[in-house]
Formats: sequence, structure tokens, C-alpha cells
Amino acid sequence: MKVLVTGAAGFIGSHVVDRLLARGDEVVGLDNFDPYYSAEEKKRNLWNALSSEHFRLVEADVADPSALTTALLPYFFDAVVHLAAKVGIRTSFDDPLGFSHTNVLGTHAVLELARAKGARTFIFGSSSSVYGDAAPVPFLESEPAPEPISPYAATKRAGELLCEAHQRIHGGSVLCLRFFSVYGPRQRPDLAIRKFSTLIAAGQPVVVFGDGTTERDYTWIGDIVNGVLAAVDRGARGKEEFQIINLGAGRATKLLRLVELIGEALGRTPDIVKLPPQRGDVGRTLADLAKARRLLSYEPMVSIELGIPRMIRPAGSVSP
Ligand SMILES: NC(=O)c1ccc[n+]([C@@H]2O[C@H](COP(=O)([O-])OP(=O)(O)OC[C@H]3O[C@@H](n4cnc5c(N)ncnc54)[C@H](O)[C@@H]3O)[C@@H](O)[C@H]2O)c1
Repeated sequence: MKVLVTGAAGFIGSHVVDRLLARGDEVVGLDNFDPYYSAEEKKRNLWNALSSEHFRLVEADVADPSALTTALLPYFFDAVVHLAAKVGIRTSFDDPLGFSHTNVLGTHAVLELARAKGARTFIFGSSSSVYGDAAPVPFLESEPAPEPISPYAATKRAGELLCEAHQRIHGGSVLCLRFFSVYGPRQRPDLAIRKFSTLIAAGQPVVVFGDGTTERDYTWIGDIVNGVLAAVDRGARGKEEFQIINLGAGRATKLLRLVELIGEALGRTPDIVKLPPQRGDVGRTLADLAKARRLLSYEPMVSIELGIPRMIRPAGSVSP
């Protein structure tokens, strides 16, 4: 298959690229090396891919439709996996229009590009944050998600709605995957497990927001990639449909337990400092996985107890 992956240099995107290449697909990776974290680190994420003759890296901004068209002129695709986005729930309060520009206009532009390039499968990287605090737990895709509590979550929900309208108008297979707190090698530096492990390894205090009882469904990167590839393959079978599908581990872990597990993996006792909860933080996330199991034969394989030591090297650095 010929696949376009946007956000290819990022945490999830680079793993998706590696797995598509490993199974023999032709991949074009698109990224603008957004400065949210270092371009060097993102280039390192693509180290494997860049040595493959089946991979091309294209630098362009998804929210600039004409630049996108020019940059991708020579290519046609069977499938598009759209993962490029401005990320970071807290940052989205400081830059709501920037988030809208990239995540809403950018998603719309990539949908139109996919159509122009003949791609009948479109996979959108959505987020558990769209459920907000109002949805009953565990989160079910059939529940309405009407109360996003951050600009980031609202842009992801808007992206899903654009995907839904696009599929109704133009057909094809459009699958929105709601990822739940993804972790593993190459995790973004702003995300909890990477941030906490770096601090604990350095003997510095870990700041937790709230009383530590908030719960997250933490999902191993390899499980997420399995879900993304299963979605690509479902699209390739030619069924015309729009679906929203949760991809999580199906188990919630309390924040204090998470810090404890990281401490155990590093052989250190964490020094915890508690601060008031931050806006945009959802109290509890937990995925209902029945739909993912039914449509994608998705089955998470790596528990948090296995995944944390696997991600963190004994010296405390995070493997590339
Ligand atoms: N990591 C998680 O836990 C998580 C959870 C839910 C949803 N998601 C979604 O998954 C996707 C990937 O997230 P990630 O954690 O790998 O983040 P990431 O920041 O590592 O990857 C995103 C990539 O998109 C690129 N990008 C940003 N703006 C762009 C633009 N305008 N044009 C082209 N490229 C652009 C960035 O440079 C980056 O390489 C995002 O859509 C995110 O919203 C992630």
C-alpha cells in the first residue's frame, strides 16, 4: 500500500511509519517539525525510516493547503493516517487559535488532500480528551461528547466532525481513533511518564497536580500502532463507513500508583510535591474497548506494570 502519514516525525507517527515500512508498505511521512519540542529529537525518531528506500520525508504545514499540494505533487495514496497536530492540553489554553488553525483547518486540508490523491481510507488520530468530565466511565463511543474542557479537546472533536461530514459527502472509509494516554519509547517530553522518570532518575521532586487520585487509561505505543494498522487494513477492505473507535488499555491507573511504578522501575523512592489541579485535566479516563475488539480485533497486550520498566532504562534515560 501507499500510505501518507502526517505528523510522521512525532512520537506516535514515527512508530506507525516504522511498522508500515516493516511490513512492506510505501510511506510518505509529512511533518513541519513544530517547535513544541526539539526538531533534533523528531529527526532521531525517523532515524530508521530515513534509511529505507520505501520512505520519503516531506516537510510541509498541514494547515497550508497550497504548500501541501505542491509538496505532495508526485504522490498518490491508498490511505492517509493523519496524526499531525498541535498537542499539549495545557498549552492549548495559551494558544487556542494556533490549535484551531493546525488541528481544525489542518485536518480539513488533509481530508481534501486525501480525496485529491485518491485515498479511500482516512485514519484520524483523535483523543480520549473529547469525552471531557461529563461522560460516564468507561467511555463509550456511542455516548455524546458534548463538553470538551480544553481548546485542544474541542479541536479534536471538531476534527472528528469534519471527518464525519467528509465521509457522508465523499464516501470512503473514515475511522477516527480516540487514543488514551499513549506511552513508550520516543514518548513526548511533556507527557507524564517521561517527565516523571527523568525527574526521579535525577533525584528531583515530582510535581503532581491534584491529590494524586486522578486516573488515566495508559496505553502502550505498540498496542496503539496495532490498532492504527488494523484500521488501515479495515479501510483497505473497501467498506464505506465512518466510525469512531477507542484505543486504550482498558484499565485505569491512579496518578500516585503511576509515580510509584516509575520509582520501582528506577529503584528510587519518588519525592512527591502536590499542587492544585490544573484546568483541562479530566478526572478519570477509561476506554470501553468492545467496539475496537469487534471492528479491529484489537487487544491491548502490554500492561502498565510491564510497559513502564520496558520504557525506562535502569539509568533513567528513556530509550530512543
Ligand atoms: N500521545 C498521546 O497520548 C495522544 C493521546 C491522544 C491523541 N493523540 C494524538 O495523536 C497524534 C500524535 O501525537 P504525539 O503524541 O505523537 O505528538 P507529537 O507532537 O510527538 O507528534 C505530532 C507531530 O505533528 C507535527 N506537526 C504539528 N503541527 C504540524 C503541522 N501544522 N503540519 C505538519 N506537521 C505538524 C509535529 O511536528 C509532530 O512531529 C496527535 O494528533 C495527538 O493529538 C496523542
